[in-house]
Formats: sequence, structure tokens, C-alpha cells
Amino acid sequence: MKILILPTVEAVTKHAARRLARQLKRKPHSVLGLATGGTMDRLYAALPAMVAEEGAQIEQMRSFNLDEYVGLSGDHPQSYRHYMATRFGVPLGVDLARMALPCGDAPDPAAEAARYEAAIAEAGGIDLQLLGIGQNGHIGFNEPTSSLRSRTRIKTLTRSTVAANARYFDRPEDVPTRAITMGIATILDAREVLLLATGAAKAEALAAAIEGPLAAASPASALQLHPKATVLCDEDAAAALRLRDYYETVHPGGRDPSFGGPL
Ligand code: F6R
Repeated sequence: MKILILPTVEAVTKHAARRLARQLKRKPHSVLGLATGGTMDRLYAALPAMVAEEGAQIEQMRSFNLDEYVGLSGDHPQSYRHYMATRFGVPLGVDLARMALPCGDAPDPAAEAARYEAAIAEAGGIDLQLLGIGQNGHIGFNEPTSSLRSRTRIKTLTRSTVAANARYFDRPEDVPTRAITMGIATILDAREVLLLATGAAKAEALAAAIEGPLAAASPASALQLHPKATVLCDEDAAAALRLRDYYETVHPGGRDPSFGGPL
């Protein structure tokens, strides 16, 4: 696992946007695995300028999002489909038909999860998977105790995740309590993964993921098994890392010689 500690949230955002843009430049038909949430908000806002700066083509990409709330239709303002259309598809000029998410209002959510898993495989798998991390260590909506070999399925959200998501809903009773999420094994199948963690609230979860035991109690720790995983974090999220000296020796200032180019 490559750990890059950058000084600020802005630096993390910019570096991630550059990695994404370069992926598209190298392979315009990339299949991207995308995420939602506050961390991704910043990244997607930075992407149009970075795509232009890097001279990348974005129109030919395809994407699969990690997750969607069960019970919300795609036109619900808090659905992840709506989030992706407004933050990514429309500003970047990507045909929304190229951007896949599980259908939250499918009549049979379990069948929808299986269909989604198969669709990822049919697309040839994911080239680059973006991930945020929950304060409890979740990736996608794989909450603690999720099987490390799980595939796309329905998960019940923890109270803390429901509470964290409540900021997006008018009434607490409207916050969905279940989601269709890619599984941990689905995520590990991606050819490359990029996890972004910013802010002090993520420090404990990040330390458990990187330096703790491989454990279902810390779903993000499964990334220890991935051959090409990069973690981009800011100073605040890095605060609980015990081996920080080592990461900074290998990648001073968060620089990654194999990536090349400025932060
Ligand atoms: C959402 C998702 C989640 C978030 C995580 C962090 O699609 O996959 O795992 O990445 O909850 O969310 P923020 O960035 O809002 O802290």
C-alpha cells in the first residue's frame, strides 16, 4: 500500500483529480469506480479544470458507483444517481447513460445487486476505483463485520452512518437505513484503488485500515490485500499513523516518483 501524506485537504483533492485525469488521458475508455460524499464533492468540483489542464478525454469513460440507497428512485434529490448527475455527469459533459449505479428502487433489490455485480464484470472490470472511508472504517457501505469476500448486496447501515448521512435529508425519518453496495471482494477486483481520507474525524479509521490487523471490523483494512492501492490523506487524517516516519521517508511531502508530475 502506498501512503501519501499531503499537507492539506486542497492538496489531496488536487492530487486525486490529477490521478483521475491522467488515468483518462492514458486510457480514455477507462472504467472508473466512483464514490459519493463530502470528500468526493471536492474532487468532482476540481475535476473539470484538471481534465482540461491534463488534456484528458472524459466523454468515453464508463463508471460504476459503489452504492445507492435502497428505496430511493434515481430522480430523488438525495439519491446517489442524482448526486452523480449533478456533480459529475452534467458539469463534465458525460452522457449519464455511461454512468451506472445500482437502482435503489428496483422491485427486487437482491436481484438488482446481482445484476450490478454481473454488469461490472461484463464491462471488463474496474480500472481505477475511488474510495472514501467512513469514520467506522467502511468502504462503500461495507459496514464493520462485512465479509471480506463479499460481493454486491444489500447492507443495513449502522446508526453512525445513518447519523452521518442525515445532514443531506430534511427529516431524520427520511434517511435510508439500507443500501445496495459493491462488496469488499468486488472492490478488491479493481485493477487499482485510490482511497482519500481528510480531516481529523477519519484519523482513527485510517490508522486501523493501514496499520491494524486485517479484520472485518475495519472493512478498509481489506485494502492491505490489494496489489495496487494508494492512500491520499491530509495531515489531520494522518494524525494517528504510527509509521508515519516511514511513509514520509519513502514519499517525502507526499511525492510519488512513479506517478510523476506536480501535486
Ligand atoms: C459513498 C461511500 C462512502 C463514503 C464515506 C465517506 O459512496 O462510498 O463509503 O466514501 O462514507 O464519506 P465522506 O466523504 O462524506 O466523509
